[in-house]
Amino acid sequence: MSFGEQSSAADLPEPKRLLVESVLSYADSNLDASLDRMFELLRIPSVSCDPLLAQQCQAAASWLATELADIGFDASVRPTAGHPVVIAHQKQATGPHVLFYGHYDVQPVEPLDRWEADPFDPQLKVQPNGDTQIIARGASDDKGQLLTFVEACRAWKTVTGGLPVSVSMFFEGEEESGSPSMDEFLDQVGDELRADTMLLCDTYLWNDAIPAVTVMFRGLLEGEIEIACASRDLHSGAYGNAARNPIQVLAGLIASLRDESGAVAIKGFYDDVQEPDEDLKSELKKLDFDTDSFLQNVGLSQSAGDQAYSALEQIWTRPSCEINGIAGGYHGDGLKTIIPSKAVAKISFRLVAGQDPEKIQAHFHDHIRARLPADCTMKFTAFGGSKASAIPSKSQFLQRARAALRDEWNCESVLIGSGGSIPIVSVMQNRFGLASLPIGFARSDNRHHSPNEKYDLSSFHKGIRTWIRVLAELSGCEGNRVGALDANSCAADKPA
Ligand code: BES
Ligand code: MN
Ligand code: MN
Repeated sequence: MSFGEQSSAADLPEPKRLLVESVLSYADSNLDASLDRMFELLRIPSVSCDPLLAQQCQAAASWLATELADIGFDASVRPTAGHPVVIAHQKQATGPHVLFYGHYDVQPVEPLDRWEADPFDPQLKVQPNGDTQIIARGASDDKGQLLTFVEACRAWKTVTGGLPVSVSMFFEGEEESGSPSMDEFLDQVGDELRADTMLLCDTYLWNDAIPAVTVMFRGLLEGEIEIACASRDLHSGAYGNAARNPIQVLAGLIASLRDESGAVAIKGFYDDVQEPDEDLKSELKKLDFDTDSFLQNVGLSQSAGDQAYSALEQIWTRPSCEINGIAGGYHGDGLKTIIPSKAVAKISFRLVAGQDPEKIQAHFHDHIRARLPADCTMKFTAFGGSKASAIPSKSQFLQRARAALRDEWNCESVLIGSGGSIPIVSVMQNRFGLASLPIGFARSDNRHHSPNEKYDLSSFHKGIRTWIRVLAELSGCEGNRVGALDANSCAADKPA
């Protein structure tokens, strides 16, 4: 069979097919125990951007390393300049070597009063349609999702004593903070994380019934802009009119970032934007995306971006500029009549293929400087930048993974884009030429980064089952590297 052809479980040799069936049924009968383990991880409040919770990030990393060691991985928690990374290996004598990436850190929980329960006290909620939701911060982004892969490995290991391919794990604790320590960390680990492909479980299904492989992510430039005027807060009567108000200035600058059509109005912003190639364009065209319900589900009725593009193009293939937060002046009860001395806003730019975060930052600076009135200073602190990434859509790994998806979901998977960003994808591509294979089971209503984030029990269960099949299918791929046999690359090669 050539790699371009469609294959399915029927193509697996009979003993292997039976083996897969027994691994699947182990996962089915042990789902409750898998769920208990997910709850343990969800109870750890590993918010990466909160310095007060650094210990909790450490705790989540240790928890993962212990679980991985428990199922035969050579697992360790590695320090970085920020939160630790978990690395684990379990190599086989032959076959390809896959690296699985996930993040154990989560987004902040605010606004807390919008949660139905404590975000770190996971709740099960049975829906009228019979499905059960797991509600907690990190349920789908990314703790519940990364555990689908770990639990699939557990099932293989328990039933057969080994894994069908060599597996390394790579869990970071700073993804939600833009992975600031990752470059330096990767310099240190060198070739240890080289593999034939990198699997991820941090993306969406296309819909409840149709799975997807995500083949592009937007990049990101994120930072904070501060506008400062007077040397202190002033009485707004004693100085009103005469003193420049930084909130007013900031609001005007923010308003100038988009034109009436919704397009970004920064000069040069679109200069390097590359259109997706024709193959991908036609794949994306095949998807019938329901813009109305996409917007209605979150209480909206009209897409607000560049009207020359569809909503799906706006979120997947066009760059954006969003204000993520704004602060200044008095926020307490009642009135305080001041002209504040400063105002700040968090701004993020989603970037598409061709755009360079540094160039975008320069264009943004120029835009602000040209409009800054007298007596104002502007400070922009960048939190990090990542380029957009494209995933090769014709690799043997992708073909085989899609065969596994077909077996589990009884339908053809689709290739989709993502408006979100996973910085490590382009980092690993550029460093090691390592292509990613992102398959996720989250649904569009999972409330990522929002109050009452959830994961459906059916996503968790079918996710575990899917990875069990993917691992079996990938064992038929050829490794491009010595990975599995490279005695220098990791301690797991030592005889047990
Ligand atoms: N899992 C998301 C990325 C994602 C979102 C993939 C939607 C597919 C669909 C990831 O955890 C995330 O939120 N990334 C951040 C990265 C940032 C903080 C550097 C993002 O996209 O905002
Ligand atoms: Mn994520
Ligand atoms: Mn996220």
